[in-house]
Amino acid sequence: MPLPKAELHLHIEGTLEPELAFELAARNGVELPYADTEELRKAYQFEDLQSFLNLYYELMAVLRTEQDFADLTDAYLARAAAQGVRHAEIFFDPQAHTKRGLELGTVVEGLWRALERSEARHGVSTRLIMCFLRDDSAESAMATLRAAEPYLDRITGIGLDSAEVGHPPVKFREVYEAAAALGLRRVAHAGEEGPPAYITEALDVLGVERVDHGLRCVEDPALVERLVRERVPLTLCPLSNVRLRTVDTLADHPLPAMLDAGLLCTVNSDDPAYFGGYAGDNFDAVRQTLGLTGERLRELARNSFLASFLEDDEERRAR
Ligand code: ADE
Ligand code: ZN
Repeated sequence: MPLPKAELHLHIEGTLEPELAFELAARNGVELPYADTEELRKAYQFEDLQSFLNLYYELMAVLRTEQDFADLTDAYLARAAAQGVRHAEIFFDPQAHTKRGLELGTVVEGLWRALERSEARHGVSTRLIMCFLRDDSAESAMATLRAAEPYLDRITGIGLDSAEVGHPPVKFREVYEAAAALGLRRVAHAGEEGPPAYITEALDVLGVERVDHGLRCVEDPALVERLVRERVPLTLCPLSNVRLRTVDTLADHPLPAMLDAGLLCTVNSDDPAYFGGYAGDNFDAVRQTLGLTGERLRELARNSFLASFLEDDEERRAR
């Protein structure tokens, strides 16, 4: 039995496996510039975040209809459930789809079709987090927030993702203020490739409750101390860090030192179709390579529920 856990850092578009990409391409008459799944998999060699993002956005072309988003999400939930995920807080990138001509409603309704039956079908409770692309303008993010207002009963929170360096959190101050006024929860990617100062800014300017990645906090002892004191959860993604070369090898990952320092770390999969594994695979990898004990793994699982947006009663049931 895999350890029951919550997945808090998962981009639904990053769960698009090559087989489903080709199936959807055929269904929608979209030509992919790869002969087959094997050739596509060979493209999964990344130098950094941007080289991954280029492929991630390119492959999204196969997602066209509500049913495509529902099929993608249902396939993810089945995989996650098999690896012990009981609760998933799922990111999506609306602008990556609306800029291709899709309606926001197609995306949200499609995701919802799978999410609304997830507990019954997979035993996985869910939340939806709408991310803004930080390499697009703040005006585009604000327009996206306004366009999402009819769907806010389905959206728990907002996040910030895509190319980090050069796009500091402060760029999105007004958008986060507007989201807070709408009662939305707030998270943001910070300190993945960007400097520790972006983590501080995400906390102080955007008011985030969790930091996605936050890995580079280890470069700033005063920041680590603050994150420990304020019990700020970090959603780490070890296999992602290796594939995007933010750490040299998994054996060099600072997760054990971060836990020793008292940080509220969680282990997540980010874009599992691209980075070699889902939540359970990430747990297995850190157990095998970083030698984490059973107690440490249980702490990580416990942290995942603590850091989730579940209410206390739901949290107890999910564990
Ligand atoms: N979008 C999808 N995966 C991402 C990541 N790891 N960092 C930033 N943006 C992303
Ligand atoms: Zn991410």
